Order: sequence, then structure tokens, then C-alpha cells
Amino acid sequence: MTDLCPLFFCLRIFMHNSRMRLDETSQGEKRGVRFMTMPILEVRNLFFRYENQEENVLRDINIEVNQGEWTAIVGHNGSGKSTLARILNGLQLPTQGSVTVNGMVLSEDNLWDIRRQVGMVFQNPDNQFVGSTVEDDVAFGLENIGVPREEMVQRVEEGIDRVGMKSFLTQEPHQLSGGQKQRVAIAGVIALRPAIIILDEATSMLDPIGRKEVLETIEELRTEMGVTVLSITHDLEEAARADKIIVLNKGEVYAEGKPDDIFRLGEKLVKIGLDLPFTITLVNKLKALGISFETDPTTSERLIEELCKLQLKI
Ligand SMILES: Nc1ncnc2c1ncn2[C@@H]1O[C@H](COP(=O)(O)OP(=O)(O)O)[C@@H](O)[C@H]1O
Ligand SMILES: [Mg+2]
Repeated sequence: MTDLCPLFFCLRIFMHNSRMRLDETSQGEKRGVRFMTMPILEVRNLFFRYENQEENVLRDINIEVNQGEWTAIVGHNGSGKSTLARILNGLQLPTQGSVTVNGMVLSEDNLWDIRRQVGMVFQNPDNQFVGSTVEDDVAFGLENIGVPREEMVQRVEEGIDRVGMKSFLTQEPHQLSGGQKQRVAIAGVIALRPAIIILDEATSMLDPIGRKEVLETIEELRTEMGVTVLSITHDLEEAARADKIIVLNKGEVYAEGKPDDIFRLGEKLVKIGLDLPFTITLVNKLKALGISFETDPTTSERLIEELCKLQLKI
């Protein structure tokens, strides 16, 4: 037995080290914020069919989303994005397969708990206002779930502050721009403190300024609060900002990966009805002219950086 002691000793050190490695790899450092990379959302072998339809509109969907990540779901019209969003929010139940949110498996018994974990922001800014002023609107959801008055006041203020709308507390909705309305909708959602925020085409009705405001707000929520974001869009330019892109095509996951990996699919994306971002098209054209980049830029900001580097070299 004593002969085996050194072996046990080595084994214990090995186990200790491998545990440490596991701990280290289970956390990601990102733009100054530490996120636990544990799946907060898991979709397994999901199929969905509407009652009045014969065909499944979602087929064998498998998705894993880590806490604090920004995942973009892209796809042509009718590919099943909104249906998927509604299932994740407990507005529809899977026909087959499972959805697990923050450790809870979605079922008829926990629909309301799931809805509290998953906040939704929809496409039309005008359909989202329920209050007569910005603060009433954000308070509405909190009143609904019976948050005590004192805490409610604090959470309303916090939510509105987070989206940069503090100076609009008593404004009426019709006085706001589309982007401001969507930011108030986001404030209403974050005041409820969900684990995940889903934005279903939340920027598609906005002008470029409104879109920029909303995207910057999402970015801040993620980097400063570690909120998990799922943004549904048909705009690949917008999806380029996410950590991960899931491409849906005709109810199935067509591809999944980092934006750079997805954009490498090039014309295949065009074939399934998506428009390549302007930046990617421009980079491809510049490369065809013989210009080579250190790293292929996928966003306009990164393209500008790369072009500046090239100019410095000339
Ligand atoms: N309430 C519904 N009843 C029946 N079919 C529906 C319903 N909503 C959507 N669909 C169908 O499901 C498919 C996916 O739609 P949807 O999830 O809205 O896609 P997307 O959001 O990607 O445009 C489409 O073929 C659409 O016609
Ligand atoms: Mg949709």
C-alpha cells in the first residue's frame, strides 16, 4: 500500500489541477466583465407544429445559450424565428422536445415562471406602450407581479436610467421617437429582472439613429449587467455585433457559429434569402482587387481600423 502512496499523491495533484482547469474554462473574460459560461437556455430536439397546420414549422432545433452572451437568430421571413421566440417565452409549448430556461424545463405548470425569466421586446414600438407616461409604462409590469411600492419606484428609476431615458420620465409616448419607445420597452423588461431578453425584430421599424440607440443599449446591458440577449433579426449587419449567430432556414438550424465563421458562408447565405452585410460585400470586393487584410473585418468599425492600418503601411 505504501508503494502506492506517491501514485495517490500524483493522482490528487492531477485531480486538483484538472478541477482548476475546469473552473478556469468555465468563465469567460469579456470586455472587462466576467461571465459564467453555463447554459442559461437549452433547446433540445425541438419540433413545433401549429394546430391548424399539417407540417412542423420548427424541426429538430438544438440550441445552447450561455449566460451573458449575445446570440443573434437570423433567417429569411417565415423561417420560424418568431415561433421559436414565442416558445422560449412560454407563449407556445413545444410539440416535441424540451426547452430549459435557467434550469427549469418549460411545461404547462411553469409557464408564468418561465415568462418572468424571459423578457420580450417586439417589433412595433407603438404596440408596446401600456402606460400614459414613460414611468407608468415601466411600472406596469412590476405592478402586475405585485412588487411592493418602494421597491417598484427604485426599479423603475433604475430601468429607465439604464436605457438613458431619465430625462423623459413624465413624457407621453407619442412625444418619443421610435428608438426612444423601444428603449422604454427594454427598460420595462429589465425592471422585471429577467434572465434573458429576447428582441424580436425590435430594430426593424426604426430609422438608423433609433437602431443605433437600441443596439448600443443592448450592448451596455450585456457588458455592464451581464444580461443574456437573444436578438432576432433578418439584418446580418446587426447580427455581426453578437457573440454567436444561429441561422434558421425553413424551420431548421442551417448554421451556427461566431459572426466571422457565418459570414464565411458568403453566397450560401444569399441563397437562403439573407443579404450579406455591406461591410462583407465591400471587403470581398477589396480582396478581389488584391487588397489583403490582417483579419477579415466583419463590422464597419473593424473595416475602418483595418483600412487605417493599411494606410499607415503605405
Ligand atoms: N399563428 C400561426 N398559425 C399558423 N401558422 C403560423 C402562425 N404563425 C406563423 N405561422 C407559420 O409558421 C411559419 C414560421 O413563421 P414565423 O415564426 O413567424 O417566421 P419568421 O418570424 O421567421 O418570419 C410560417 O410559415 C408562418 O406562416
Ligand atoms: Mg418574425
